[in-house]
Amino acid sequence: IHPLDVIIRKRDGHELTKAEIAHLVHTVVLNGEAKLNPATAPTVATDKITDAQIAAFLMAVFWRGLSREELAHLTTAMRFSGEVFDTKSLNSFTVDKHSTGGVGDKSSLLIAPTLAAAGIEGTPSISVPMISGRSLGHTGGTLDKLETIPGFNTQLTLTRMMEVLHECHAVLVGQTPKLVPADRMLYAMRDHTGTVESPFLITASIMSKKLAEDLQGLVLDVKVGSGAFMPSYEQSKFLAELMVSTGEHSGTKTVAVLTTMDEPLGRFSGNWVEVWECVDIMQGKRHAMSADLIELSNVLSGWMLFLAGKSDSPEAGAKLADDLLASGAAYKAWLKLVAAHGGDASVFEDPAAFHKPKATQVLKAKRSGYLAGMDCKEIGWAVQRLGAGRAKPGDPVGAHAGIESHAKLGTKVEEGQPLFTLFAEEASLLAEPLRMMEETIVIADEPPTVQPLIREIVK
Ligand code: URA
Repeated sequence: IHPLDVIIRKRDGHELTKAEIAHLVHTVVLNGEAKLNPATAPTVATDKITDAQIAAFLMAVFWRGLSREELAHLTTAMRFSGEVFDTKSLNSFTVDKHSTGGVGDKSSLLIAPTLAAAGIEGTPSISVPMISGRSLGHTGGTLDKLETIPGFNTQLTLTRMMEVLHECHAVLVGQTPKLVPADRMLYAMRDHTGTVESPFLITASIMSKKLAEDLQGLVLDVKVGSGAFMPSYEQSKFLAELMVSTGEHSGTKTVAVLTTMDEPLGRFSGNWVEVWECVDIMQGKRHAMSADLIELSNVLSGWMLFLAGKSDSPEAGAKLADDLLASGAAYKAWLKLVAAHGGDASVFEDPAAFHKPKATQVLKAKRSGYLAGMDCKEIGWAVQRLGAGRAKPGDPVGAHAGIESHAKLGTKVEEGQPLFTLFAEEASLLAEPLRMMEETIVIADEPPTVQPLIREIVK
C-alpha cells in the first residue's frame, strides 16, 4: 500500500479498505514522530508520507466524505495510534460525556462527581475517565476551570489516572502527548489546509480521543444555536449521527443529545466563577440563574446512568442525578476527587470570597422590553477577550475573568436593569468586551420564541 494510491482512490470517490486507512494513519504517526524526535524515532522511512500528501488526503476526505465503515476504520486507527486506557481492571461500567463546546457550559464539573457518587455505591459500579480540553476560540475549557482550584493537577500519568479512578470513580485530566498522537498530527495539518470543518474529520478526531478512554458508554452533548460550533441545526444533527454510528461501531453504547446554545449556560461564564457556581449547586445553594445548567447536567447524567444500567430510563436517571446533587452525595464525591488531584478544597468554604477580579463593570438594559436575542458566539468571544480564554494555544488564561448573567432570554427587563456583570483582571480589558456585548444584545417589545434546552435525542 502506498499513500499516493490511497489518496488517488479517495480523490476518485472509491471506498477505502480498513488496511489502506490503517496504513495511512500509521505512516502519518511514524513520520510525525520521526520529525518531532529524529534521535529516538523508530527507523521507519520505508513508507514515507510527505506533508503535501497528508494535506491532499485530508482535502480528498473533505470533498468526498467517508462511508460509515471508512469513518469507523479511520477512528479506530487513530484511537490505537498511541497509548490507550485499559479499564478492565476497574470492573466498572466506564462512561463519559463530551460536549461540542459552549459558553458557560460547566456541566462536566457536575456530571463527573454525580456519576462518581452513583458509581461508588451498589452495582453496577461506574467509573468516569474524563479527558477534557482547554478553552479554545469562543468556548471555555474544563481544564482551565479546574486549574483555578489551588494545587489541582490535571496532568496525571496513566498509572496515576488509574489509581484515581479506582479510588474516586472519576478522574479529570488533560490529553497527554502519548494519547492519540495521530489526532495531534492530523489536526495541526487540518488547521493549515482548510479542512477543520469536515464533519467526518471532526468525528474521527473527537471519537478517537473519547474511545481511547476504553468506554462502555458515551453521551454526546451536541450544541445547536448561535453559540454552537456547527452553523445549522441540520449540520449539528448530521455530526451527532456520525458520532453515534462511530461509537456504536466500536461497541460503545453512544447517545447524542442536541441542546440549545443561544445564550450562556447558567449563572457564570469564565473559569473560577464556573467552579464557584458548581460548588454552590453541590452545596445545595441553587441560584435561579443556574436552572438551565442543572437541567442539562441532569439530562446528560440521566442518560449516562441509564446506559450504565443504574436506572430503568433516562428520565429516572435524571431524577437520580438530581437527588445525588441535592443530597450532598455528589459534593462528597467532588471533595474526594479534588483531593486526589492535589487540589485545596478550603477555597470551597467561601467560593465568593475567592473570586477576586481587579475590575468589574455592569452592563445595563438600554431600554425596557424583553431580552430577545444575542449572538452567543459573540458573548463567548467577549468572555475570551476579558481574559478568560486564549487567543492562541499556550496563552495563559485569567482565573477570575468572566461574566455573570442576570437575565435569561425571554425575561422582561426595565431600562437600567443589570443584564450582565463583566469581570477582568485588568481594567483596560473591560471596554472592548463591553462594547461587543452591548452590540449583540437585543431588547424587543414582544417576547421572543425561546427554544427548549433539550432539542432531540440521536441514538
Ligand atoms: N474538537 C476536536 O477535538 N476535534 C475537532 O476536529 C473539532 C473539535
